[in-house]
Amino acid sequence: MKVYNSVQELTLLINGEERTVVVRPSDTLLRTLREKLGLTGTKIGCEHGDCGACTVQINGKPVKSCLVLAVETVDKEITTIEGLENDRLKQSFVHNHGFQCGFCTSGMLMNADSLLHDHPNPTDEEVTRYLESNLCRCTGYEGIQMAVTESFYKKKDPDSHS
Ligand code: FES
Ligand code: FES
Repeated sequence: MKVYNSVQELTLLINGEERTVVVRPSDTLLRTLREKLGLTGTKIGCEHGDCGACTVQINGKPVKSCLVLAVETVDKEITTIEGLENDRLKQSFVHNHGFQCGFCTSGMLMNADSLLHDHPNPTDEEVTRYLESNLCRCTGYEGIQMAVTESFYKKKDPDSHS
């Protein structure tokens, strides 16, 4: 097996800021964010693309950062939970008990925020389909689904579902 030991310096655009980091070719975006840039809100779960705990946004789309190499993200806009500005969605998770231990929550929020950008008025099926890529071992998903649904109802009509 060939081992790649060389390192390179990259400038990545993360949460609207340019960040310079030295990586190996094999470093994932997940490990780079957490271990080299201190952005530990993005969680390490399976590292196989199954759990969604590591979800971030790249150019506004939800991406599992364990499946992306840091070197692939040059010239792209990366958003992590630390840069997520959707306070309505975050408050809705609190209000609807959309988390317990919180391990899945940053990934859920990043995924749900992308959903609401792509589908500002999603159907129940669209909410379910988006959230299928993120596992939660605590909540049973009902509170999470309600949190996402309430956040877009509030956007449409501040007086409804409050
Ligand atoms: S840690 Fe990336 S999908 Fe599980
Ligand atoms: S709140 Fe614990 S895994 Fe989802």
